[in-house]
Amino acid sequence: MFMAKNLSCMFSFRHLCYILFTLSIFSFILFLYWCHCCGKCYSSYQIKQGKRNQPINLLRYPFAWNHLSFSSESPTKFLKIALFVKKWPHRSHAGGLERHALTLHLALAKRGHDLHVFTTSSSNSSFPEYPMSNLHFHLSKPTPGGYLDQATVWEQFQAQNSTGRPFDIVHTESVGLRHTRSRYVTDLAVTWHGIAYETIHSDIIQELLRSPQEPQEKALSERVSKVVEEVKFFPNYAHHVATSDHAGDILKRVYMIPEERVHIILNGVDEEVFRPDTSKGEEFKQRLGFPDSKSLVIGLAGRLVKDKGHPLMFEALKQMIAENSTFQESSIVLVAGDGPWAARYRDLGSNVQVLGPLEQAELASFYNAIDIFANPTLRAQGLDHTLLEAMLSGKPVMATRLPSIVGSVIVDTEMGYTFSPTVTSLKKAIYEVCVDGRGVLEQKGQVARHTSLRLFTATKMVASYERLFLCISSGNHEGSFCQYQPPIY
Ligand SMILES: *[C@@H]1O[C@H](CO)[C@@H](O)[C@H](O)[C@H]1NC(C)=O
Ligand SMILES: *[C@@H]1O[C@H](CO)[C@@H](O)[C@H](O)[C@H]1NC(C)=O
Ligand SMILES: *[C@@H]1O[C@H](CO)[C@@H](O)[C@H](O)[C@H]1NC(C)=O
Repeated sequence: MFMAKNLSCMFSFRHLCYILFTLSIFSFILFLYWCHCCGKCYSSYQIKQGKRNQPINLLRYPFAWNHLSFSSESPTKFLKIALFVKKWPHRSHAGGLERHALTLHLALAKRGHDLHVFTTSSSNSSFPEYPMSNLHFHLSKPTPGGYLDQATVWEQFQAQNSTGRPFDIVHTESVGLRHTRSRYVTDLAVTWHGIAYETIHSDIIQELLRSPQEPQEKALSERVSKVVEEVKFFPNYAHHVATSDHAGDILKRVYMIPEERVHIILNGVDEEVFRPDTSKGEEFKQRLGFPDSKSLVIGLAGRLVKDKGHPLMFEALKQMIAENSTFQESSIVLVAGDGPWAARYRDLGSNVQVLGPLEQAELASFYNAIDIFANPTLRAQGLDHTLLEAMLSGKPVMATRLPSIVGSVIVDTEMGYTFSPTVTSLKKAIYEVCVDGRGVLEQKGQVARHTSLRLFTATKMVASYERLFLCISSGNHEGSFCQYQPPIY
């Protein structure tokens, strides 16, 4: 009797243990699931919205429009677009702002929109010609500072606006159209390729890297007044496009522009030109003729100037070649582009090959020939195209840990490496690349390719701008272009 009671007691105790055990496992699984979710979907407004399958009001969408998918079919409405840009690029010699204008607006013209470009005439070269009857250029003489002469372009614009059809939308690349005129246009979007607040970060980096012999930049103290000035005149532009998530945050939080007037559209590059092509890469390497013993090919491209971080890269490479014979024997650095640092790089001997500026097709082969692309830029403003080109070519990237880059491009270590703008940090990152080796780099290159195909193609950028222009010009109402229906998966 006593035994039996004791047994049943033991049994129920065991039972209880089982139940507790099962419960704890269950709650552990729930906890794991919750953690997983927090990392992934917590910040993902899009998924939350998509789940409920509610249409999104695009004007209030807080993330980059590149995350959305827009139809690639021909538009249901054709727009008459005015573009104000300081300079229209001539072939490959162009900065980021000009390239953005060229890629975006040529594509919009190809899609059938009526495009009027207000830009400066260049004094020496002939203006490029395009076989498109819906693409019109209105040239004017630049001011002594190289800007658009506002009175002249405004007159040209007014004349175009009053003949035939008025403009549906005005786009200005940075201050192409100054705020003194933009205030009169409601259907307008400005794309900022660098705002003064971000530039302060660049100034801080430059000041930290300055050697005691160099004079202090005057800019450092003037920049804050520049920000204040910008905060005052930016509201004269109806809609703002930021080219990085970070710049979008600054426009909303520091410049205090209402969120429905700030939109993030990341830059895109031509995915037909920049894509993986092993044979092109091999051919490029063969032409340069360096030995197969080079198991790591690092690529640099762009203007070889101080604010693109070339003094840092030069110093890091110089030290590594001197201190590490493995690095010296197994690696080679290819430098595309020109500028004052080209000559310095040549001084580093056979470990560095300076190729000079490359035409676009050559540049595409260059990306295919390298194992990793490095961009040591010190410019916190804007979003560098070269990183996007390398990623679309299927290459991993390494770049300075600037908010625009880590917030919008190299968002995790899956696709590359980031470093602080110091020689020590840069060297550490390059050594890490060496240790990881080709296998790991190829994997990261795959991730870079997938991410960039989703976000950084010219097609994606063009579709986003087209939708923004349609939305602004047609007004924000039910069923308008400003409503976005998330696709059902
Ligand atoms: C004008 O010519 C100079 C020298 O040949 C060249 O450096 C510059 O890029 C040219 N300008 C344009 C707008 O093509
Ligand atoms: C362009 O023309 C339209 C129609 O005449 C007019 O409503 C609009 O105000 C004009 N835009 C500007 C900026 O003058
Ligand atoms: C030298 O570089 C190689 C990679 O090229 C790396 O594995 C090694 O750790 C480096 N040695 C030193 C002493 O830093």
